[in-house]
Amino acid sequence: MIVPMREHHIKQIASLETQCFSDPWSEASIAEELRNPLSTWLVDETDGVVTGYIGAQSVPPEADVMNLAVSPACRRQGIGARLLCTMTDVLHREGIETLFLEVRPSNVAAIALYKRHGFVQVGRRPKYYVNPTEDALILRKEL
Ligand SMILES: CC(C)(COP(=O)(O)OP(=O)(O)OC[C@H]1O[C@@H](n2cnc3c(N)ncnc32)[C@H](O)[C@@H]1OP(=O)(O)O)[C@@H](O)C(=O)NCCC(=O)NCCS
Repeated sequence: MIVPMREHHIKQIASLETQCFSDPWSEASIAEELRNPLSTWLVDETDGVVTGYIGAQSVPPEADVMNLAVSPACRRQGIGARLLCTMTDVLHREGIETLFLEVRPSNVAAIALYKRHGFVQVGRRPKYYVNPTEDALILRKEL
């Protein structure tokens, strides 16, 4: 079930961040997002266990997907796609017209997901990522 992120999800999200990313968000910065009126975070949970999450920040009429991750044990079950579609719907209802995101060129799984859901590459940020250093592809979708 996909629900808005709440305080009790933060620890599990921070734990998934460390499992899924080499430069994870800290618990404190995730908690900060709950207080940021420009941020929208959604969580997929089953019986109280967080299986995935997605976060975006809006500067209407544009928004940026900050992160998307699914627990390694729960991948290829459609959770990532559902989180992305739900976020797109929520932002569209809030008046967002254009959605951006950054992704590592080596992240074949995420790129496949985003392209399947209508994102197109519109640019590249040199050396955007650290640990390891890598460019970012900038993808965009018109909602
Ligand atoms: C990217 C990620 C969120 C995808 O989540 P997921 O729940 O496994 O994705 P879904 O099951 O919804 O997959 C939807 C589609 O994406 C594509 N896809 C997902 N994983 C893929 C993989 N490993 N290889 C190729 N295509 C893949 C497929 O087109 C898939 O559809 P299909 O299963 O019908 O073929 C997940 O792999 C993840 O958490 N990765 C680590 C964190 C990360 O890199 N996040 C993105 C940062 S930009």
